[in-house]
Amino acid sequence: MKILSIETSCDDTCISILEVKGGATNASFKVLANNSNSQINIHIPYGGVYPVLAKREHAKNLPIILETCLKQANLTLSPSPERRGLGRGIDAIAVTYGPGLEMCLWEGISFAKELAEKWKVPLIPVNHMEGHVLSVFGKHKGGFTIPKIKAPAISLLVSGGHTQLVLMKKPARTTVQSGGWMDYSIIGKTLDDAVGEAFDKVARMLELPYPGGPQISKLAEIERKRVPFPLNKGENERGFLIQEPHPALSLLRRGKIKIQLPRPMLHSKNLDFSFSGLKTAVLYLIRKIGKPDEEMRSKIALEFENAAIECLVYKTKKAIEKYGARTLIVAGGVAANKYLRNEMKKVVGKKVKLLFPTQELSGDNSLMIGIAGYLNYLKNKKKVPKLDSIKATGNLSL
Ligand code: KG4
Ligand code: ZN
Repeated sequence: MKILSIETSCDDTCISILEVKGGATNASFKVLANNSNSQINIHIPYGGVYPVLAKREHAKNLPIILETCLKQANLTLSPSPERRGLGRGIDAIAVTYGPGLEMCLWEGISFAKELAEKWKVPLIPVNHMEGHVLSVFGKHKGGFTIPKIKAPAISLLVSGGHTQLVLMKKPARTTVQSGGWMDYSIIGKTLDDAVGEAFDKVARMLELPYPGGPQISKLAEIERKRVPFPLNKGENERGFLIQEPHPALSLLRRGKIKIQLPRPMLHSKNLDFSFSGLKTAVLYLIRKIGKPDEEMRSKIALEFENAAIECLVYKTKKAIEKYGARTLIVAGGVAANKYLRNEMKKVVGKKVKLLFPTQELSGDNSLMIGIAGYLNYLKNKKKVPKLDSIKATGNLSL
């Protein structure tokens, strides 16, 4: 069957067409079309996503991207002006219905409902976060199948709106294809800001353009490779928490000693996270040292990335040990972060299979929505909800 999938939960308008073969235990996917429109340039002047603008852009771009996808998938059956026949051959539509910005979600849902009515095909509502979990199986070109996954599995979901540790605890040898595996319980979460949000806010403090995650990461990467300055006699190798008045503040300003930021909740007993204190520590630091020059910006970016990733990696390792996980999935926009990928590889043992999405599928995309749509279609024994019951749900949880 051919599934058309739509994603509009934030600032990316995305549509894919997947050809799917096989049933619950041997599903294989072929990418017939996969197109998106990023709104980054439109939101840069606002330093973040401006929801009304995002909604307007989705409305403008959806029909254009749809037409491109149908052409690519060779589904333009009739070139007539009224586009009769366009879309014939699509057997089902999958659409993100949450979590995300509600007005943006509605744009995708309404568009999907119209198509589902016109083409008389089922509409499958998809949870965006489940999409991220399943994104690790996708490839944005060509074909792919879903491999056997050993349970229990843990997912670390890290994006602009979420930081969650999720347990999929069906017994070992259960496979993702059997559907039962797609049962989630949240075992840890952020108590305040999401990690991607913290990256974006710190980037704004450093006057780096939106979206800040990749910018911070780029600066940190360069700084990490720089040879560390020699410590003066008596200086603290671990750095220190900055307190005013502190004689070392002038050394810090001159880049002579290390910045050290806190790792909130690193040693808390639970598996929760907190990133707002880390973000505020950067704010106070900048207030103390004044507008950072280029070198200081890189040093702050490095220490911020070290602190944030250390918290993610430490709690994930703890979760793996606590639940005896055999598979670890790391997904969501922040999974594109190279340092996170490297550090995670270092700490998970050989017994744990570590899965990341490709760089293209780390951020928001519709391909992951197509995969989740199909697996849900099978899981629910091909029963689909009534169109009227599908509603945008901004705070939808897994
Ligand atoms: O999953 P996603 O594309 O959208 C949401 O569902 O939120 O995640 C976007 C987030 C943004 O906060 C962005 O700054 C962050 O992912 N991000 C990164 C990197 N690439 C994207 N954060 C850290 N390092 C990166 N390389
Ligand atoms: Zn996302």
